[in-house]
Amino acid sequence: MLTESVSSKVLNGVSMIDQLNNTIKPDVIMKCSLDGIIREVSDTIKLVYGYNARELIGKLSYDFIHSDDIGEFLIPFAKGDIDIATFTYRVIDASGSYIWSESTISVLKDSANNKPIEVLSITRDITTRKKTMDQLMEAKNLSVIGKLAAGLAHEIRNPLTTVKGFLQLISTEKVLKKEYVALMLSEMERIEQITQDLMLLSKPSNYKKQYLNIIKIVEDVKLLLETEAYKNQVDIHLKTFSNSINVHCNEKKIKQVFINLIKNGIESMKEGGTLTINISCVDSLNRVDIAIIDQGCGIQESELEQIGQPFFTTKQTGNGLGLMMSSKIIQEHYGLIKVDSEVGVGTTFHVELPCGH
Ligand SMILES: Nc1ncnc2c1ncn2[C@@H]1O[C@H](COP(=O)(O)OP(=O)(O)OP(=O)(O)O)[C@@H](O)[C@H]1O
Ligand SMILES: [Mg+2]
Repeated sequence: MLTESVSSKVLNGVSMIDQLNNTIKPDVIMKCSLDGIIREVSDTIKLVYGYNARELIGKLSYDFIHSDDIGEFLIPFAKGDIDIATFTYRVIDASGSYIWSESTISVLKDSANNKPIEVLSITRDITTRKKTMDQLMEAKNLSVIGKLAAGLAHEIRNPLTTVKGFLQLISTEKVLKKEYVALMLSEMERIEQITQDLMLLSKPSNYKKQYLNIIKIVEDVKLLLETEAYKNQVDIHLKTFSNSINVHCNEKKIKQVFINLIKNGIESMKEGGTLTINISCVDSLNRVDIAIIDQGCGIQESELEQIGQPFFTTKQTGNGLGLMMSSKIIQEHYGLIKVDSEVGVGTTFHVELPCGH
């Protein structure tokens, strides 16, 4: 039975493990004395840098680092400033080529007197990652996809770094503090939210639409956000020329748009004020205009072009995805979003949608 399942994974005479070994380079684990002498190193060094582990014992680790990168690497350690840190630098391999590498290095301490005794490092080859990133950065006109990828990496890296930091702290302190767990959970939720938003964007949108009363939808959203508005000393007023306007829409998606826009309006009014939702008919067309008018900080002219681009945000906890999602949804409803803004006076977002029936 076992033989059967193992053999079924062999493709054209090459096992899956062999295939992976050829493409994924393992991490190299190394222990050095405080002055950089290699004491122990994993055999994986052969696969990554071509050296035999045994030959390296007793050698000076710094001799394998590119001279331009060594300063950044050594100074903080020499000062004793660092317990755990990650460095990017070039390592010379057995053939004499430099390989971009990334190491997470931690200082091991004597448990009796807390004095540093050894340095432990985990190192990996990041050549491919670095090349791709460099190409991305060099490209003069980053495509939207490029921007999205770069932004996404940045947005996800920050919470990940925090989680990693806490995990490292827990592993050294050997105590699991509740506050750490709560923080890690909130960071994980941030990552989850970003990935969920992006998955929604990438999915082909074939959700169901039906004719629904847009006034009722807006009223529902108003109710939903009233507590948040109250907390921010914002009054929400709804003005409408009719009690019933039918729009061919997906209720959940359209609600998502108004939640985004009204939340942005509330968030722009740091000192409170009035947020008016004005529903009117667009002249001579079968279209309805839902205007969300705030008395907030307004948007600088230089920022007007950037709003709606992925990850553009001026907020500390914002993801910069709200407007991008909203305009995608409105496009899918054959409508459009327009914005007028004056710094210090306020902003109006118009959502125009076909209506009738
Ligand atoms: N009503 C508004 N008044 C002033 N600035 C606004 C308003 N709406 C949007 N902005 C600006 O546009 C940026 C992008 O808005 P968007 O809704 O896309 O992202 P966000 O609100 O920052 O984050 P989130 O993804 O959580 O919505 C905001 O950070 C803000 O600078
Ligand atoms: Mg927003």
